[in-house]
Amino acid sequence: MEHLSSLTDWTPEVMTEVLALAAQLKADPGAYAQAASQKVLFMIFEKPSLRTRVSFETGIVRMGGHAINYDVTTSPLGAGKESLSDTIKVVSRFSDLIVARLYKHSDLTEMIANAGVPVINGLTDYSHPCQIMADLLTIQEHKGSLKGKTLCFLGDGCNNVTHSLLFGCAMAGMNIRIGCPQGKDFEPLPEIVEKAKNLSAVNGSEIFISHDAHEAASGSDVIYTDSWMSYHIDPAELDERVSKFMPYQVTTDIMKAANADAIFMNCLPAVRGYEQTAEVIDGPQSVVFDQAENRMHAQNAIMLRLLSQC
Ligand code: CP
Ligand code: NVA
Repeated sequence: MEHLSSLTDWTPEVMTEVLALAAQLKADPGAYAQAASQKVLFMIFEKPSLRTRVSFETGIVRMGGHAINYDVTTSPLGAGKESLSDTIKVVSRFSDLIVARLYKHSDLTEMIANAGVPVINGLTDYSHPCQIMADLLTIQEHKGSLKGKTLCFLGDGCNNVTHSLLFGCAMAGMNIRIGCPQGKDFEPLPEIVEKAKNLSAVNGSEIFISHDAHEAASGSDVIYTDSWMSYHIDPAELDERVSKFMPYQVTTDIMKAANADAIFMNCLPAVRGYEQTAEVIDGPQSVVFDQAENRMHAQNAIMLRLLSQC
């Protein structure tokens, strides 16, 4: 049985196959209208969500299945009356797939250890692989291919999306340039960078980390940013983080430092005036809503892949 905890659970070849399936699902949804017939997806979210929650539920329904959104706040788990391992053992008796959005990545690992059905990482503090599958699909659509293209991420480098982008780009043979403040709280985790560098060496791409936003953006095909206040960040840190990250805000000037036909991406939710200006996110280079839509197509492919490996 296969789970999706990190993109590195797959080989680059499998990731490419799943992306190809996602493109087929998007092009011909009717052909997959019963692909998950009678399948039940159990969804458990410890953190807020719009896209992940709605795209998984819509996605399984459009393939003939059903989703249950389990409210942690009213659960024995949330009340401290039942362990995570017992919860997952019980849920595995009723469902065919589990998607979990959790704070601690170690809780996801514990879920996987106790699950009788495939578990999908719907975001942890550490990584967000489903997002990056949708992002790669979006880049493929707008740029024609992935290999050899360059993505620049600006802002919070020590971030779940940044971590998964490092893996996804390296596995797809894309170059990734990160522009972030100096310091361990703002730079990608060293263990992730090392693993991504090994993958990129095999797949013929490069990883570059800079503390200068213009330098990082230069020559890029994609400019990508994410929230400066991820769900797990204490709101009390707002002022300090805004001043740290402001030099990495995506502005029209930054977009000009990238290639002329560069696209702008943000996994959303976004705050205009923080990680990007309104002019950029609402401008002609922005593909953020294609990116949001592609969550469903990418995740449908992920679900079919995991169901096929049971
Ligand atoms: N991008 C993303 O995961 O959005 P949600 O937090 O709304 O699910
Ligand atoms: N880094 C963000 C991603 C939101 C989809 C967070 O964890 O909140």
